[in-house]
Amino acid sequence: MTVVSRRTAQAQAAFHAVEKFYFDSRYGKRRGDPSISDFTFGNPHEMPLQGIVTAIREAALPHDKDWFAYKTSEDAPRAFVAEVLAKELGLPFEAEDVALTAGAFGAISVAFRLLLDAGDEVVYPEPGWFCYEPTLLAADAVPRKVPLAKPGFDLDLGAIDAAIGPRTRLVIVNTPHNPTGRIYGRAALEALAECLERASRRIGRRIFLLSDEPYRRIRFDNRGFTSPAAIYPWTLVDYSYGKVLLAPGQRLGYLAISPLMPMAERRALREAVFAAQMASGWGFPNAVMQYALPHLDRLTIDVEALARRRDVLTGALAKAGHTVLAPEGTFYLWVKWAGDPERQWNALADRDVFVLPGSVMNANDYFRISLTASDAMVERALPAFAAVSSARAPA
Ligand SMILES: Cc1ncc(COP(=O)(O)O)c(C=O)c1O
Repeated sequence: MTVVSRRTAQAQAAFHAVEKFYFDSRYGKRRGDPSISDFTFGNPHEMPLQGIVTAIREAALPHDKDWFAYKTSEDAPRAFVAEVLAKELGLPFEAEDVALTAGAFGAISVAFRLLLDAGDEVVYPEPGWFCYEPTLLAADAVPRKVPLAKPGFDLDLGAIDAAIGPRTRLVIVNTPHNPTGRIYGRAALEALAECLERASRRIGRRIFLLSDEPYRRIRFDNRGFTSPAAIYPWTLVDYSYGKVLLAPGQRLGYLAISPLMPMAERRALREAVFAAQMASGWGFPNAVMQYALPHLDRLTIDVEALARRRDVLTGALAKAGHTVLAPEGTFYLWVKWAGDPERQWNALADRDVFVLPGSVMNANDYFRISLTASDAMVERALPAFAAVSSARAPA
């Protein structure tokens, strides 16, 4: 007898490689060990920002009897986010366009619930975040992955266009992009918008765009940012405070409807979002995180420190013969192995250095480094990177 539903079993299979890496690999066995250099996932390796503690502590003190009552998207933080987004993206968001969620994860699930019927297809670039696929499969939707164009990992509009068929409902763009660190510029987004407009006409059905922007505020070298929401009217934006605060365990984010969307569709989505959140298990952030939001919004991790680690590691990795793609944003480095990926990964692990193998993102020749590692971890890892560069295949 099959106990688990088909769609959950499919989601489980799609996540298997990451789950195995996280729990059962050599990394899984060493995770949390203070003697390793952990460059795998975007987790903190130092104490949290003090401002987070202050904001949450203050927000936890009840002002009235309803302080911990059921919360939906509360008016004050919703209006606050609309105002901040209007300034940040240069678009006239209104409070009703914003749904507060438990991080970007929550916002993405709500977007899927809002837009997708069983069997609807969703196109997104690969390599990419490894949770789109299981989340789509669990929503009974059909993932259609298309490769990014190497060597720069640009959007490949030909591949996106070719993947669009009669059942396509949604395209996902993640900018700044995990794992490559790319930020897609205005010209690329305009070309994408034209492609989606043409394809929507061709299939006789509106294709929506989900702009997954949790790393939006983590950008290097004063780079600008253009949201797809400013270019393609049928865009929903998702965001998470988990990245910029490096506190992904404190779930807070939002889904926002582009104010450029025609009013009929915009209104329909505004009106349906409550039901989508309620039906996805009361998918609102908890009360304390909502009260704390305006205070948390002012905080950020030290992007200069990330940039310093980026520079030190880029130099060391290049010297070791690896090819590093210069990141424009996010806290990742995307690197092409100089030699045999499995052997080199193991040689690093032998020296207590753990990186995320690209194989978990269907990109065997690459690996990802998270710059959220501490400076001490970076320092300790440098000799290992140097040693592994010269590691030759056994004769
Ligand atoms: C591209 C991308 N989207 C969404 C998420 C989910 O973010 P959160 O866990 O903060 O909800 C992540 C987290 O790693 C991500 O990398």
